[in-house]
Amino acid sequence: MEKQENIWDIFYLFIVAFTIDFRVKFYYYKNMKQYNMYSLEEKTEKTILIIDNDAVNRAILRKTFSDLYTIREEPSGYLGIAEMLNNQQLFSAVLLDVEIPGMSGIEILRHMKQIGLVDSLPVFLITAEQQEHVVKEAYDLGVMDIIEKPVIPYLVRRRVQSVVELFETRKFLHEMVETQKVELMNQSNQILLLNQGMIEALATAIQFRDAESGGHVNRIFEITRFILENTDFGKDLSQTDINNIALASIMHDVGKIAIPDAVLTKPGKLTPEEFEIMKTHTTKGVGLLENIPQLQNNEFYEYACDIAWHHHERWDGKGYPEGLKGDEITPWSQVVALADVYDALSCKRVYKSAFSRKKVIEMIWAGQCGAFNPRLIDCFFSVEGEISKMYRNLEQEEESTAV
Ligand SMILES: [Fe+2]
Ligand SMILES: [Fe+2]
Repeated sequence: MEKQENIWDIFYLFIVAFTIDFRVKFYYYKNMKQYNMYSLEEKTEKTILIIDNDAVNRAILRKTFSDLYTIREEPSGYLGIAEMLNNQQLFSAVLLDVEIPGMSGIEILRHMKQIGLVDSLPVFLITAEQQEHVVKEAYDLGVMDIIEKPVIPYLVRRRVQSVVELFETRKFLHEMVETQKVELMNQSNQILLLNQGMIEALATAIQFRDAESGGHVNRIFEITRFILENTDFGKDLSQTDINNIALASIMHDVGKIAIPDAVLTKPGKLTPEEFEIMKTHTTKGVGLLENIPQLQNNEFYEYACDIAWHHHERWDGKGYPEGLKGDEITPWSQVVALADVYDALSCKRVYKSAFSRKKVIEMIWAGQCGAFNPRLIDCFFSVEGEISKMYRNLEQEEESTAV
């Protein structure tokens, strides 16, 4: 009998415990729905910083926002600023009391403005009385809103929440634009590389036909760019111009595609008739470039046409095809012409062996390959020492091939 009573006692205790547990849970969920705008599952990871020396005020604000944000609190302006500087990306908003001993709310704002924090972080000023000059200065310094005490939780939550959302959206859009900018830059760099690859492939095909020493067009590219980047001759050109000119220089002899093999690869000196045919590689080069519509959208196209056309013109008017004189020849065609001559003299060709560096310098100074702009000659020889270094490996390669 006693045993049966014990069983009923245990059963009774179980029922009571279950009921209490159920009532606690019910009360908890009921209250959460009634008092909170957001359920616990909707709480974000956003953090707000409260700067206020008054512990009671901080507690009121903490209670108002703790279901929406992670809260950090600082009792002074100095600590608040240190906290913002140490965790610049962490905070979604700052709630700043005006009346703080030591550094006041307005002084904190001035300091935040100086270091650029108000542009990236919404600041709310909390004040008991709205003095006009304080309000004006606060707005001038970039404060987002001014909240009056006593704080009305529902209102202050809505005001802070909408500004935070606005900042988040603005930040998201800014990041999206930045990401798209980077993607576009990458795409345009890829197109540039593709273009350069196609141009180099075409120029290399011409080289093979011309039986020129390997890498001629690459060296013209490097020499042209080096002179324009490192001497006064390129001082009026932007880096983009220089890059385009260097790229265009690769195409200088593109017209040789249209020259018959008997003339192009003849080992000896050309007859006057053959030389006349050879000279047409300049005009034929322009004709060829004009027939590639895809090239015409490239920034280097105008340079490429001009260089293909005029890289055999000479300063004294004795060049071809037009016999242009002095500054009638564009600076870029002048540079490529000199680079072309320097490389042709420095390397072995079907019709000649490579000349020594000393001999090449003498021949250019003496105008044996035609006259060049004296200013260009000065600029070129101010960097020729550096340029000559790219021929060291070439000499070694040629020696090993000869062995
Ligand atoms: Fe040429
Ligand atoms: Fe050439």
